[in-house]
Amino acid sequence: MAAPALFTLLLAIFAAVSNSFVDATVLTMVNGGGITLCIKYWVPNDKIGGGCRELAPSQVWNIEATSNWQASSMWAFRGDCHIHEPCNTGPPSGVTQFEFTIGGYGGFDYYDISTLVGFNMGISVQPTNTNCPSQNCVTLDHCEGALPENPNSTQTCPYGTTNYTITFYSF
Ligand SMILES: *[C@@H]1O[C@H](CO)[C@@H](O)[C@H](O)[C@H]1NC(C)=O
Ligand SMILES: *[C@@H]1O[C@H](CO)[C@@H](O)[C@H](O)[C@H]1NC(C)=O
Repeated sequence: MAAPALFTLLLAIFAAVSNSFVDATVLTMVNGGGITLCIKYWVPNDKIGGGCRELAPSQVWNIEATSNWQASSMWAFRGDCHIHEPCNTGPPSGVTQFEFTIGGYGGFDYYDISTLVGFNMGISVQPTNTNCPSQNCVTLDHCEGALPENPNSTQTCPYGTTNYTITFYSF
């Protein structure tokens, strides 16, 4: 391979690698309750599909999302991951969901906590960028988000300016 071609190739690899760091938005999931949870996420338009992990109380799980993550969802079940369906499936009815799009229309992230298909435990979302709104739905009586009576509740934050902490509450 000629030296200029190798140089160009190295540049392209470097650009791809540094781009993936620039693009990544860290989602930190926290088990904020008192029992083990199986936390799951689903990315319908990305080849990774989704994943799941068991978290003991106060355990934390970080994942990196990119702007390919559109109309994604995250939820949790009580107990371990083995007794539930495979990781790579969409949300079933009955669960509280954190819904999120990273790097969507107009250069914004879009997110909300939704009880439109059900409520099985509390969830809160806290952007690390304090200029962006948090949302808390710890109990149904004190729930902000996409509720059946209140669909106008999606929050936005400029893409690339924030990471997110999502805390699950189950007692
Ligand atoms: C509120 O939600 C309703 C139903 O989804 C929609 O038709 C309406 O345009 C929304 N209003 C605003 C201000 O976003
Ligand atoms: C998100 O978290 C990662 C890892 O801690 C950090 O490198 C990055 O700067 C954070 N991004 C923002 C926008 O705060």
